[in-house]
Amino acid sequence: MASREHWRTKTGLVLAMAGSAIGLGNFLRFPTQAAQHGGGIFMIPYMISLILIAIPLLWIEWAMGRYGGIRGHGTTPAIFNLIWKNPLSKYLGVFGLFVPFVVCSYYIYIESWTLGYAIFSILGGLPALPSDFNISNEVQKPFKDFFLHYTGFSSSGFLNKPVIWSYLVFVVTCALNYFVLIKGVSKGIERFCKFAMPLLFLMGIFLAVRIFFLQTNYGSAVEGLNFLWEPRWDKLTEPAIWLAAAGQVFFTLSLGFGAIIVYASYLKRNDDITLTSLTSASLNEFAEVVLGASIAIPAAVAFFGLSAAQEIAKTGSFTLAFISLPVVFASLPYSNIISFIWFFLLFLAGITSSIAITQPIIAFLEDELKFSKNKAVTLTFTTLFLVAHLPIFLPFAIDEMDFWAGTFLIVAFGFIQSLIFLWSLTPATVWTEINRGGSIKLPKIFFLIMKYITPAFLGILTFWWIFKELPSYLQADDPRVWITRVVLFILLSIKLYLIFFAYKKKKKILR
Ligand code: PHE
Repeated sequence: MASREHWRTKTGLVLAMAGSAIGLGNFLRFPTQAAQHGGGIFMIPYMISLILIAIPLLWIEWAMGRYGGIRGHGTTPAIFNLIWKNPLSKYLGVFGLFVPFVVCSYYIYIESWTLGYAIFSILGGLPALPSDFNISNEVQKPFKDFFLHYTGFSSSGFLNKPVIWSYLVFVVTCALNYFVLIKGVSKGIERFCKFAMPLLFLMGIFLAVRIFFLQTNYGSAVEGLNFLWEPRWDKLTEPAIWLAAAGQVFFTLSLGFGAIIVYASYLKRNDDITLTSLTSASLNEFAEVVLGASIAIPAAVAFFGLSAAQEIAKTGSFTLAFISLPVVFASLPYSNIISFIWFFLLFLAGITSSIAITQPIIAFLEDELKFSKNKAVTLTFTTLFLVAHLPIFLPFAIDEMDFWAGTFLIVAFGFIQSLIFLWSLTPATVWTEINRGGSIKLPKIFFLIMKYITPAFLGILTFWWIFKELPSYLQADDPRVWITRVVLFILLSIKLYLIFFAYKKKKKILR
């Protein structure tokens, strides 16, 4: 068996894992979800999901990854089969490749907008505010037109028509991801995250502090913080809030994507799991609940007022990040620089995540199909580049892909993972696998939580989702939504079949 790569330093590992977790989800998805679901109300199911499902699942994924890695496998088709000797396990494991692939294909495109906007900010290419502007929805108009033009979302036809710059920056973004990944785990991912993550934190803290002092006649940043932070207990019986909160916790911690498993497969046999996983998760929570909560919403509340900011959040995270915030920044001194910092922060958060979402596919090609690194990375990026044309050109494809893969499948996959790990291995093995080499020893109560509460909670969420959310989601008035759904379904099924097929042909490699 060819020897697998390893992380070079503990700091590098923590920063790479934190880099995977801290992404667009922290700065775009979290504030929008929280604001859409009543601010402080959202934080309660968020914290409960964090403790009862996310942290236990985090240990499970780290342990599964290390377990597979020391046996020469880093991805779920093989690791599920090592743990659960049932032919079905490999096929279920294939979703640990399919999901990151689908998510990455739209994630990397959105990431490219952040790079494009960072460049436009510094070159002064974003719209400006007239000197006698009044704070109203009208001021957003040129910024909105700019965004719709850039992404091509303004088109009412059957295809989006992004501007050429947008497409070129997308190509550059793919190339940058490629150059990091081609260098491998420690020389590429680890080194890049060691430089990018501290910079990201510095920029995040700078923005949070700058925004804290924002105040207009309409509101203040502090009001925005209060809205997100003041716990409220009404509406807690609504399933939608629980689903949204649990979904966000999954997305932000990169759970259910097969991505943590792959990174953890580069650990050594006795490397600590218990504490290192908590350290990187804590960095993520700091970036989400402290920094993520202190930028977009407080800035929008200070400028537009609380109820207008809530309305903006209802229209989605893109409006908030790419339309409303540039408006707020344009009203400040040194607007180019502040706007650049915002978009470059998003870009660093995005790229340290997209390399992590891509790695499962690369690792699969290397571990199972015995491709060389160069061949694996090149094939992955060629396919990814092609598939990303779906979210670029098909109207509503980003929403569809995010809804199915980035929300539903990750929770369902987390459910399957927890069942396989906890119910196929003996309790003693599970406990040793998690605690071996651990800098802290976990209280035994977590074993019971992992075995019963986490899967039960996840199972309920999955079924709740199918019966409560799905029917209303499926109603769509615009016929283009249906065309996109059909095209995506056909093409992505072919893709799924190809992964199955490649795997089936080579499955004899598995021991
Ligand atoms: N956690 C990332 C975010 O919050 C998304 C992600 C998922 C990254 C899976 C890597 C792997 O944006």
